[in-house]
Amino acid sequence: MGEMLVLGGSASIYLAKSISESLNARFAPLDTKIFPDGEIYVRIPINVDGKDVIIVQSMYRTPNFFLIELIFAAETLRELGARRVVGVIPYLPYLRQDERFKPGEAVSAKIVGTMLGARLDKIYTVDAHLHRIRTLKEIFEVEVINLSIISELARAAIKEFGLNNPILIAPDEEAEQWVEKAAETLNCNYIVLRKERIGDEEVSITGLERITGVALIIDDIISTGGTVAEAAKLLYERGAERVYVSAVHGIFVKGAEKRLFGSGIRGVLTSDSIPSPYSKVSIAPLISNILRKEL
Ligand code: R5P
Repeated sequence: MGEMLVLGGSASIYLAKSISESLNARFAPLDTKIFPDGEIYVRIPINVDGKDVIIVQSMYRTPNFFLIELIFAAETLRELGARRVVGVIPYLPYLRQDERFKPGEAVSAKIVGTMLGARLDKIYTVDAHLHRIRTLKEIFEVEVINLSIISELARAAIKEFGLNNPILIAPDEEAEQWVEKAAETLNCNYIVLRKERIGDEEVSITGLERITGVALIIDDIISTGGTVAEAAKLLYERGAERVYVSAVHGIFVKGAEKRLFGSGIRGVLTSDSIPSPYSKVSIAPLISNILRKEL
């Protein structure tokens, strides 16, 4: 590895800066703006010729904007002579559309994989939403390292909420992979609920007879908050004393917080893959450690 530079995309300036500090590498934010007509302007503000460049961009809430910004930047880095362009994309969007559910649908996960894979030499992400696709190799032609912050998050939730041996809850079968890991870390029992998706913002959760004590829901993504809120309602109906939630990526689309706290959830904790008032567990050490070893 030659001289390393860390560039922050507009979604992840703070995170990029803290990664650069722990790598002792030079940092620069991408120079970006939106023109009055909605087009995006991107400029690489430093000399990258012959350098190894890490570009950090999580893609949340306005994923299309952040995706195009990253693609413009990665393509430009190559044109300007960067030796290697490595993407750190903590929240990788579009992975839930990993199949053609109805005839004619775009398989967005595959398309995004192709767009990024053509421009980046390697990608690091965090707890990617793998469900029907079991490994990112199926959609990316470039190497993707899928890191996990679940153990750190589970330990932090115990501390943050003052919990003692909670029952861990996966709100659906897809979350079993995360709850299993958290249960192993904390040495706790877990239950996997069943979810049926009724619409983009509406789900029905079943699969629980009776529960006692305190429950901690573990999931990868909170978007509208519907999944977690419905799980919490069921847990309270069936006897839970208090319900908390810990998720990796807190997107919190408009109205999500109202939904979550309206369902009686006592506390929310997420990683800072997406910044929010709940993102108290930093992924920067996890990412920096692996970059230090592998690059
Ligand atoms: C999908 O199955 C994910 O694991 C999450 O459960 C889901 O994306 C959460 O979305 P929402 O908060 O909109 O229910």
